[in-house]
Amino acid sequence: MQYERLVQWAKKTWEERYPGQFYMTIWASSECSNKIAQDQVKPGRRLKGKARYEGLEELESTVIVPISDYGSRGRQMVLTATSGAFLFKFTDMDGEPFDVVYASSYYDDDVQDLTAVALVPEGKLEVWAAFEGICARAVRPRIRRRRDVYIIGGTDAFFEPTVEWKDVILDDRLKHDIFDDIEAFFSEGVEIYRKLKLTPFRKLLLAGVPGTGKTMLCAALAKHALTERRIVVYVSGSDRDGATFEKIQRAFQAVASARLPTLLIVEEIDAYLRGDDKARILNVLDGVESPNNPRGTLMMATTNYPDAIDDRVFKRPGRLDRIFVVPTIEEELLAEKMLRHYMAEQWMEEHRIVVSRLLNQPGAFVREVALHARMLAAHERKTVVSPEMLENSVNSLLRQMKLDGNFLAQRRPLGLERDGTPRRRSGYDYRD
Ligand SMILES: Nc1ncnc2c1ncn2[C@@H]1O[C@H](COP(=O)(O)OP(=O)(O)OP(=O)(O)O)[C@@H](O)[C@H]1O
Ligand SMILES: [Mg+2]
Repeated sequence: MQYERLVQWAKKTWEERYPGQFYMTIWASSECSNKIAQDQVKPGRRLKGKARYEGLEELESTVIVPISDYGSRGRQMVLTATSGAFLFKFTDMDGEPFDVVYASSYYDDDVQDLTAVALVPEGKLEVWAAFEGICARAVRPRIRRRRDVYIIGGTDAFFEPTVEWKDVILDDRLKHDIFDDIEAFFSEGVEIYRKLKLTPFRKLLLAGVPGTGKTMLCAALAKHALTERRIVVYVSGSDRDGATFEKIQRAFQAVASARLPTLLIVEEIDAYLRGDDKARILNVLDGVESPNNPRGTLMMATTNYPDAIDDRVFKRPGRLDRIFVVPTIEEELLAEKMLRHYMAEQWMEEHRIVVSRLLNQPGAFVREVALHARMLAAHERKTVVSPEMLENSVNSLLRQMKLDGNFLAQRRPLGLERDGTPRRRSGYDYRD
């Protein structure tokens, strides 16, 4: 067992350095050897009372191969999770120095989970726990602040509250319903919740197939919220960091410290309704773990898999207060409005011939049809987009979507050998 070798090595190191000194052997958090934490948590950092972290020394170990993972932070590539052996130095609450011997390693070639152990002197567990906590916070999904929007998610998370409300082209009634619900909550609702001794936390869901404008709608709502001096917290969907409950917790920390009415946007909430996170997200929806912000928090969640949200959420009143379905384009009037918008100054009445073919498609489809036709025209040095060009654009996009569909259907067997056993490539297999 790998951990036995780690502990044996750590014990030997301890006895050589601190003969006769008592210690406890504990499972430790793998974040202490993460390079992001080691960069951020600087010597001199206060931990608890007067206790401080004083720095680290890298140790040679015959049983550990130091190896790092890496990922992007902003535009930079940085080292992240790292296996290795370290001596962490501290002074305790009485100013006495002490050390912790720490070792982290991978279990085996396939499981990419670090196992870490630490040898901590007696009576120093509290200080060590504080250090582990700080390292963990340094590594976990971070909050970035951009134009008063707190963004929680991987570095790929992109959200700009710059969309105009009028540019979101949806049925007016739907737009009004959503808008009014939010405004009524912040203007009167918070007070009503408070008088009833309920936490002022309202939960709305936008459900719809990809590309219908859910994220765009959220961006427009965010823009409006900022003009009303509300705080906006945006939690991205799944990304390199995965969609773990951690992100929701970070969001709640931001919300709880906001001291202002808050719009909390949670993308792809269905991703949290699987596995271990499910019970916790249900607690959130039930209000057991909801953020305590007396000024009121409105959560706007999105999903394009309403099916993944089972009856336990849908049918139980109070878990989600309102569900708004953001549909594909249902009426020719709306299709034309959307097409006009994306054709802009190149719009011609003759373009109407494609309108009927835009029905049952999401807004993203119309945008692409228009952009593609306009680009091809420009490429041919034409200022006019002919109706034929627009028709061709519809045809080619439909063809591509059909191909994509087939490609997706075929993708699964591609990773398999003929006998059906998964082919391995670079340590991962393609079973799912
Ligand atoms: N209702 C709409 N009005 C105007 N533009 C739209 C609309 N729907 C989609 N679009 C265009 O398509 C783009 C993609 O839409 P958006 O990302 O908001 O879809 P989504 O519903 O969030 O999709 P997903 O479920 O995949 O996240 C938008 O940035 C916008 O340019
Ligand atoms: Mg989206």
